[in-house]
Amino acid sequence: DQQADRPARLLAWYDRHRRTLPWRAVAGERADPYRVWLSEIMLQQTTVRAVGPYFEKFVSRWPDVTALGRASLDDVLRMWAGLGYYSRARNLHACAVAVMGDHGGVFPDTEEGLRALPGIGPYTAAAIAAIAFDRRTMPVDGNIERVVSRLYAIEEALPQAKPLIKEMAATLLGPSRAGDSAQALMDLGATICTPKKPACALCPLNDDCAARTRGDQETFPRKAPK
Ligand code: ADE
Repeated sequence: DQQADRPARLLAWYDRHRRTLPWRAVAGERADPYRVWLSEIMLQQTTVRAVGPYFEKFVSRWPDVTALGRASLDDVLRMWAGLGYYSRARNLHACAVAVMGDHGGVFPDTEEGLRALPGIGPYTAAAIAAIAFDRRTMPVDGNIERVVSRLYAIEEALPQAKPLIKEMAATLLGPSRAGDSAQALMDLGATICTPKKPACALCPLNDDCAARTRGDQETFPRKAPK
């Protein structure tokens, strides 16, 4: 049935339309956990476009987590200048030191292990676990919240709806390729299922999108009155 093959349709769309981003592996290859982690920290409060050049500067100066852990905090802060939210840079350095000191320079490969590191919250832990280690989990960011709340016409408002959205987002995970599934939803939210005037004609899930059936896509996600 339609619902059951959503994960496969989403992945087929991703294989054709995936964005080329500096931290993404070549299709079919496993991503480097260091690059995935660094990009996810940078992307927490900064757009994909703004992150690009910073990501490149960081990986060329510090190609792995050990190199970053050995750098001085001042150098890291100087390199971060312009990205904002400087606690991210402090945590970034602290995290590199912790991975070096407590994990032999190798990132933990579970959500729980990642979550214990400085600067890594539930979203980031799920993103790294899925993208770098193919753990079967769906990180839910703002883009994914929008896609999922439309697909299922979730009436409950944000932020209360977060647990329900997380649960429904998991229906889009197939038996494998969790990281690609997550990045497919991120790309779908960024390029097609946009806040205003979504390009539903191009969406691989348009046939069974509840909000589209009703014609009120832009009203999701519902937001609690301020
Ligand atoms: N935003 C956060 N993580 C991302 C990723 N891996 N790809 C695209 N956009 C993102």
